[in-house]
Amino acid sequence: QMEPPHVFVVFGASGDLAKKKIYPTLWWLYRDGLLPKVVYFIGYARSDLSIEELVKHFEPNCKVKDGEKEQFSEFVKKCTYVTGAYDKPEGFEKLDSVIAELEQKYDGPANRLYYLALPPNVFAPVTSQIKEHCMAGSGGWTRIIIEKPFGRDTATSAELSNHLASLFHEDQIYRIDHYLGKEMVQNLMVLRFGNRLFGPSWNRDHIASVTISFKEPFGTQGRGGYFDEFGILRDVMQNHLMQILTLVAMEKPASLNAEDIRDEKVKVLKSIRPVRVDDVVLGQYVGDPNGKDEDARQGYLDDPTVPKGSTTATYALAVLNVNNERWDGVPFFLRCGKALNERKAEVRVQFREVPGDIYPSGALKRTELVIRVQPNEAVYIKLMTKRPGMGFDVEETELDLSYNSRYTDVRLPDAYERLILEVFCGSQINFVRTDELDYAWKIFTPLLDQIEKEKIPPIEYVYGSRGPREGDELMQHHGFVFTGTYKWSPPQNN
Ligand code: BG6
Repeated sequence: QMEPPHVFVVFGASGDLAKKKIYPTLWWLYRDGLLPKVVYFIGYARSDLSIEELVKHFEPNCKVKDGEKEQFSEFVKKCTYVTGAYDKPEGFEKLDSVIAELEQKYDGPANRLYYLALPPNVFAPVTSQIKEHCMAGSGGWTRIIIEKPFGRDTATSAELSNHLASLFHEDQIYRIDHYLGKEMVQNLMVLRFGNRLFGPSWNRDHIASVTISFKEPFGTQGRGGYFDEFGILRDVMQNHLMQILTLVAMEKPASLNAEDIRDEKVKVLKSIRPVRVDDVVLGQYVGDPNGKDEDARQGYLDDPTVPKGSTTATYALAVLNVNNERWDGVPFFLRCGKALNERKAEVRVQFREVPGDIYPSGALKRTELVIRVQPNEAVYIKLMTKRPGMGFDVEETELDLSYNSRYTDVRLPDAYERLILEVFCGSQINFVRTDELDYAWKIFTPLLDQIEKEKIPPIEYVYGSRGPREGDELMQHHGFVFTGTYKWSPPQNN
C-alpha cells in the first residue's frame, strides 16, 4: 500500500501573501520533514508565469541556508504552476487535469488542500469552481483554507458562510486566525487546565480584570487602502483578540477534541452582550513632527492610500463583560492599535486586593499573571515578596518563565507553519468554526454600524505614544489599577 499523494494548491500564487508567507512556510515544513512523504505544490493565478518566475518571486523569503540548497531544489521540483481565471471553468479544469496526472503515478486519489491567498471578492467564485471541478476522488479528502476578511459584519459574513456551507462540510473548511497558531496562545489552555494553582482562582471572586493587548509600533505603511476599509476593530479586535478572550474565559472542555473546545468558545461568545459605543475609545494616529523617521512623521491621513478625511480607527479599546456565573462584573479590556509606543501582545490577568491586609496601607500591589504572546514569549506572575535581608518590607517582583532563557534550544514554530501542518493533519482545534465566527460578529456589528452611520470621530493620538489618554481612563474607570511602580524586563539570554 503506497502512501496517498497530497496536493497543496495556492490560489493567488503570484500575490503578496503567497510570496511572503505561504510558499516559505511550505518550504520550511518540507525542509523539516513534517509533510506527508508524497506531496506536490501547485500555484494558481491569472498571470502568465513560468515556474521559474514563480520561484524567483518567493525564494528570497525562504531563507534557504547554504547546506539546504539541494533540498530546496527538490522542493522546487515538486512545484508547478497553472494559469487561469478565478471565475471561469477552464483554469479549474486544467488544474484538475494536472492533479489527475499526478494521481496516475499512485494507486489512490490525491488528498487536496486549497489555500485561498486571494482578495475576498473572489472567495465565492473560486470555491464554487473548486466544488464543481476540483474535488478529490472517492477515498481522498478536500480541505479549503481561507483567511480573513470573513465579511465585514454579521450579514456579509453570513453570506460567505452560507455560500461555503452550500459547497462543503464544516470539517472541510479551515478558517485561519493566525493568532491561534502562536505558541503562547496555544499555551493558554495548558496553563489554565493543567495547573491546580490557577483553576480555583480563575473567576470573579479573585480576578479583578483581564486585559488583552495588541500593540504595534508602526503605521499602515502603504497598506492603508486595505486597512481603511476594515479598521482596527475588524482587523484585529473582532478576530485575534476575541479568540484570545474566549480561550481565557471558556469553561474546561469535555476533552481536547476540536468540537468540544469550539463548543466552549461559542458558549463564551453567546454570553457577551454587543459592545456599546460608551464602552469604547477609538483613536487615529497623527504624525509626530519630531519622529525619528519618515514613517513616524506621517499620520494615518498622510498615507496616500488612505481616503481623505477618513474616520477609520487605528486604535481601539473596548470593555466587554462575559455575562455568566464565572465572570459577571469582571471587565475584559480589549486594546489594540497601530503606531503605538511598542510592539507587544499579551494577556494580563489582574487579581483582586488581598482582604484583611496586615501590611502598611498601599504596600501590597495587586498580583498579576501575564502571558506575553510576543515578543519575548513568557509567562510571569507579578507578586509580592519580602525584600531580602534584614527588615520586614515587602516588594514587588516576579516569577518568570521566559522562553528565551528556559528553552534555549527550541525554535518556536511560526504561526503559519503550525496551522498549515494542522490542516494536513485534519485538526480543526485552531480554526474558526462557522457559528463561532457568527457570534463574534454579533458582538461587534451594532457598534460598527453605529460608528459608520454617525461617523463617530476617533480621538487623535501621536505616533509612538500609548494611544489616547481616554483609553487608559476608561480602563481605570472600570477598575483597572495601574501603579507604575514595577516594570518587568525580560531576562537577557546569555
Ligand atoms: C494581521 C493584521 O491579521 O495581523 C495586521 O491584518 C497585523 O494588521 C497582523 O499587523 C499582526 O500579526 P503579527 O503576527 O505580526 O502580530
